[in-house]
Amino acid sequence: MCGIVGYLGTKDAFPILIKGLHRLEYRGYDSAGVALVDNNGNLNVYKTKGKVANLENYCKDKDISGCVGIAHTRWATHGEPSDVNAHPHFSQSKNIALIHNGIIENYLTLKKFLISKGYEFRSETDTEVLVQLIEFMMKEHKLSLYDAVYQALTQVVGAYAIGVIEKGNPDLLITARTSSPLIVGLGEGEYFLGSDASPIVEYTKNVIYPEDRQVIKIERGKEIEIRSLDNEDLIKPEVKEIELSLDDIEKGGFPHFMLKEIFEQPKSLALCMNGRVQKEQKEIILSGVRDHIEKFAKARRILITACGTSWHAGLIGKYLFETLCRIPVEVEVASEFRYRNPVIFSDDILIAISQSGETADTLAAMELAKAQGAFIYGVCNVVGSSVARLTDSGTYTHAGPEIGVASTKAFTTQVCVLTMTALAVAKELKTISEEEYKRIVTELCHIEEKIGKILEKTSEIESMSKIFTYARNFLYLGRGFNYPVAMEGALKLKEISYIHAEGYPAAEMKHGPIALIDEEMPIIVVAPRYALYNKILSNVQEVKARKGRIIAIVTEGDTEIKKQADCVIEIPETEECLSPLLTVIPLQLLSYYIAIAKGKDVDQPRNLAKSVTVE
Ligand code: M6R
Repeated sequence: MCGIVGYLGTKDAFPILIKGLHRLEYRGYDSAGVALVDNNGNLNVYKTKGKVANLENYCKDKDISGCVGIAHTRWATHGEPSDVNAHPHFSQSKNIALIHNGIIENYLTLKKFLISKGYEFRSETDTEVLVQLIEFMMKEHKLSLYDAVYQALTQVVGAYAIGVIEKGNPDLLITARTSSPLIVGLGEGEYFLGSDASPIVEYTKNVIYPEDRQVIKIERGKEIEIRSLDNEDLIKPEVKEIELSLDDIEKGGFPHFMLKEIFEQPKSLALCMNGRVQKEQKEIILSGVRDHIEKFAKARRILITACGTSWHAGLIGKYLFETLCRIPVEVEVASEFRYRNPVIFSDDILIAISQSGETADTLAAMELAKAQGAFIYGVCNVVGSSVARLTDSGTYTHAGPEIGVASTKAFTTQVCVLTMTALAVAKELKTISEEEYKRIVTELCHIEEKIGKILEKTSEIESMSKIFTYARNFLYLGRGFNYPVAMEGALKLKEISYIHAEGYPAAEMKHGPIALIDEEMPIIVVAPRYALYNKILSNVQEVKARKGRIIAIVTEGDTEIKKQADCVIEIPETEECLSPLLTVIPLQLLSYYIAIAKGKDVDQPRNLAKSVTVE
């Protein structure tokens, strides 16, 4: 939630900050703001409700000079989206400006204390408390800005990545983090802050990933200074190289990131399998499994936890692990799991799935399971993220940066990692035959080209989407491995077109949702030809008998469902356990084109943000 950017160097900060905000806008777009200290020491803050483009417009006639600055794009938590609640926030005297991503949990206590000391508050945000507390520390204890930030943070409970600058000091930028993402870029005589690497990669590849509870002083002409809130000793920065390239974070000729990311799936799956699936030997080598195989061998149970699309991937994981490994699996949304006092055994494995690696509920669920002794296996996209750091083992998805708010390539690479993991475990536990194992691995090697074939049907799907823009409700039906795909299809449609949609197990339709069906209602049936094909055919007939309009996802060469359906999208044949990797593609495209036809902002749908770092 929220994106932060910072710059201190020799160039004009404003264009660098604005470009950075555009790249981080996927994190929230309720308001945007910037603070700059010019060369005379004036501290200027400009902020507006709405997107970064509004801020740019607003600043057209303003003094935007200065070689140090901070900027913010907000996803509102405390206080509605408005100019006054936008960051940066000023301290009482307007001598300090601060940006913040996270939540100050004890802000009410701190606010009460500051009010008792005569501080007045302009906004409804938790963030304003922190900037006021910093000023209080400076005044009360005669501290420098750095020491005041340090002391203020010792009083704070919650999550934060912050940037702070002060009037009269164009040579200083302070930053700190706990439980919210932050990267510091190191250029030639210049420094950058970002919530991720996207605002930084254009200028330098050398970065520091600050740890939790670290406070960092960036001062012109001096070495960067890092201290922990737990111990005042200086910490030597560990400089790492970012792998991201500029191409990864640009649209590459596509009108939207979402479409680019849908089309990237053959490539991202290839990267996901690279070095892990050995085509010649028909083998899967996953170090995260190989090095801990005894944990899987002795596992009483696998618990899978995640949110949103990642949870849907987890539901497919249940089918994979139970079918291939014969290990019992429970899947639960992290926000329920964490508060339910679940029974967790020390010989359980908890698989946590997260694209961003920063989802607060998923992290809390992991901490809970870890505290009770479970082995934590992570499936995560963002290297070095909080999820990755909390795991005992795991496998990165290597999908590359996903910027569209609606997850697409993150989902298929998560399913791919779960498939590889289940296959690797099944082979070790000998729960599938060597022949079956090799057959599935061989088929996995053909998945990229089969997705490519589905993508060739894009214009067909685009035309189809136009027929259904009238609809106010959609029902998505699937069975077995494709029941979670139906749920994922419904979520995609809801998120970006704002059409109500529900994903349902096809046979369960008779127990309620069938009442909704009439000639207006489009029903998407995910019906590739496997063991339950005849059952789903009956479900299709039940829908037709009530005049529902059927869009069916079927295996190439299907004849039966074709006779019943209004529209059909064919997908190539594959192993049943791999079918979600194919069936989800037309659903992603359909949602995308329905949303486009309705004129929606697919990359930045209303009320959403890419990573949900708050409860
Ligand atoms: O980063 P995560 O995978 O942990 O995020 C989980 C959900 O917030 C995310 O999948 C969300 O549902 C997406 N908007 C789905 O498209």
